[in-house]
Amino acid sequence: MDKLLIEGGARLTGETAISGAKNAALPILCAALLTREPVTFTNVPQLNDIGTLLRLLAQMGVKVSRGSGDDAGTVTLDASELDNPVATYEMVKTMRASILVLGPLVARCGEAKVSLPGGCAIGARPVDQHIKGLQAMGAQVAVEHGYVHAQVPRLKGARLFTDMVTVTGTENLMMAACLADGETVIENAAREPEVVDLANCLVAMGARISGAGTDVIRIRGVERLSGTTHRIMPDRIETGTYLCAAAATGGEIRLTRTSSAYLDAVIDKLMDAGCDVVSERDAIRLKAPQRLTSVSIRTSPYPAFPTDMQAQFMAINAVANGAAVIRETIFENRFMHAVELQRLGADIRIDGNTAMVQGVERLQGATVMATDLRASASLVIAGLVAEGETVIERIYHLDRGYERLEQKLADLGARVRRLA
Ligand code: UD1
Repeated sequence: MDKLLIEGGARLTGETAISGAKNAALPILCAALLTREPVTFTNVPQLNDIGTLLRLLAQMGVKVSRGSGDDAGTVTLDASELDNPVATYEMVKTMRASILVLGPLVARCGEAKVSLPGGCAIGARPVDQHIKGLQAMGAQVAVEHGYVHAQVPRLKGARLFTDMVTVTGTENLMMAACLADGETVIENAAREPEVVDLANCLVAMGARISGAGTDVIRIRGVERLSGTTHRIMPDRIETGTYLCAAAATGGEIRLTRTSSAYLDAVIDKLMDAGCDVVSERDAIRLKAPQRLTSVSIRTSPYPAFPTDMQAQFMAINAVANGAAVIRETIFENRFMHAVELQRLGADIRIDGNTAMVQGVERLQGATVMATDLRASASLVIAGLVAEGETVIERIYHLDRGYERLEQKLADLGARVRRLA
């Protein structure tokens, strides 16, 4: 199993490019299930999660063509011969986001059988809201033998209210509603930029959607959708992760092919920590002080501070001047990186969903284990500032969500090597 060897102490400087957003690409690729016409996507990141989803779509009868070389980020999906609306446990267990096929399959085929994702490292993460929404739209849903089995001749527009803000829940129901009979209103909808990117793609395919980006989304169902070409938005979490890495190392970097547009909450905190951040049209520059000042954070749905940036901020607080309180309100078990950071010498105390981080002068390199995607990112940041060598085990988690991580870090002057 691959490991990452990081020799700490290098200040990150220079420039690297940000990839397309994983969390936008996953639902948007699923949108191709809604039409018989081919759909082409560009700026699709080359990540394990994307590979998993494309294999799942192929199993269902979707023709997948992927560009190579300079066109590696281009994917064309043709779901004209979609004949097997089933997502097996084998596929769903490796990637929870596979549940995103449920809504489009029911809408297009009148039937879907999708494995329940089960628990994952960061919490229980049920899909009851996805199911409740489809039921409200008239689907018969049975949960049996570990599978969600949904059937309906044609979904009917309905007023939907989710008990909590759910990103993939909103996306699933929005996709399902595109082909439903009549109008659907999703209240308490997620406002994440990835929901808006999906809505833009669906509108380009002929869907009638308004309100994406607010907490009330209206979808007027149409008979059919058509093909289109859509460019995936830049990855705001990848962007934020490199900004944190540069901030922690006292660096000065420029990230291209991205934008600060969806990163207000993160950039505000980096500025509070003492960094200068300058937004350009398609780039962001950050210059960090020699030592950061601690910043407290509380995760919440967009536009507040994202849970997917919580671990990275724990790493920067670990070496900042002062003490910080980190509150995680989205997932119940998302502090697993704390014990690994402690192995590097961080001073962190956990009490329920709150972490108290007292910054230390320096961390020391050690062997640590990646436990989930963003937890792994926090260990990379800590490894970059630790004295000596840090070995991160189980980096397949990083490969799920960070494209060419070692290459991009090397562009910025980090000393990082993958060990097979
Ligand atoms: C998405 C993101 C993930 C991010 C998360 C929160 C993708 C592919 N993944 O995950 O990176 O960390 O949003 O911003 O976009 N919940 C229920 N029942 C449901 C649905 C959700 O109880 O039916 C709970 C979850 O357990 C969690 C909370 O609602 O506590 C929010 O989860 P949700 O927004 O659905 O996360 P994901 O969409 O899975």
